[in-house]
Amino acid sequence: MKRLVKQIVNAALGPFGAKIVRRRKATSFLNTDDTSLKTGIELEDRRASPLMLNSEMSLREWSYYHSSAVLGVPNSDEDERGPIRMKYFGIPLRKNPLDLWIYQEMIFDLKPDLIIEIGSAHGGSTLWLAHQLDLLGDDRAKVLSLDIDRTPYLASHPRITELTGDSASEEIVRQVKPHCENASVVLILHDGNHSAEGVTKDLAAYADMVTPGSYLVVEDGLGDVKRQWGESQYTGEGGPLKAVLEFLKTRDDYQIDYDKERYILTQNNLGFLRRVR
Ligand SMILES: C[S@@+](CC[C@H](N)C(=O)[O-])C[C@H]1O[C@@H](n2cnc3c(N)ncnc32)[C@H](O)[C@@H]1O
Repeated sequence: MKRLVKQIVNAALGPFGAKIVRRRKATSFLNTDDTSLKTGIELEDRRASPLMLNSEMSLREWSYYHSSAVLGVPNSDEDERGPIRMKYFGIPLRKNPLDLWIYQEMIFDLKPDLIIEIGSAHGGSTLWLAHQLDLLGDDRAKVLSLDIDRTPYLASHPRITELTGDSASEEIVRQVKPHCENASVVLILHDGNHSAEGVTKDLAAYADMVTPGSYLVVEDGLGDVKRQWGESQYTGEGGPLKAVLEFLKTRDDYQIDYDKERYILTQNNLGFLRRVR
């Protein structure tokens, strides 16, 4: 009933309805003491599982919940930045696990000998990439980690080479190029400067380094989707998705691979860019 009222209010408010949906604090979705939702399952003295309690959660609510309660990324100006509650080998990372599964499939299919990660932060994602290459067993395969700030970085692995500086700067691009010349399959994951301007610069600098058939994944188009939903943290100039759409107007050798968004829940909306030739 409460949900129906919310839906009617949202429909009446149009784009402003997003504020009503968001009013429920993301962490409240984990309140397993709340037995108010009917699950149809007798729990006796046990607490309900979060899925039972949130069976009517929308994909939009899940996106806010995951960003805020799991990745610690605030959804609005009023939210506080929380702890990162996702780790790989003990190192924090900010990913949708479904995206990691898609990456696993891509890495197996492509067998890249160079993965360039633009934006590594703590390095949980960087180490995960190195371990994927370990599993494939090509001793020459490398991960090149680019980041402007190494303060939080904790990863260490013989396959990983770190370059520190602005990914769009001539100095960094000049150091990256020789790694590409020695590689036969280059995969690039962009999770660096998420402003439209920053992504545009990086796409200009790195798009030619991707080998045909491989991908340049532009992460966090979800930020632009949230902007469309009317979130206050995401107002303003636009981010990765805006840059991608402009980029595709200028490059007919790149296409969006929609199949990589088949789980629907992704942080890389319209961001799986395949270089077709
Ligand atoms: C979202 S975090 C990366 C998260 C990481 N890939 C993960 O999955 O956990 C973004 C990172 O990009 C870096 N960054 C921002 N602007 C950059 C730039 N111009 N050049 C290189 N790195 C940049 C930040 O320092 C930050 O560590």
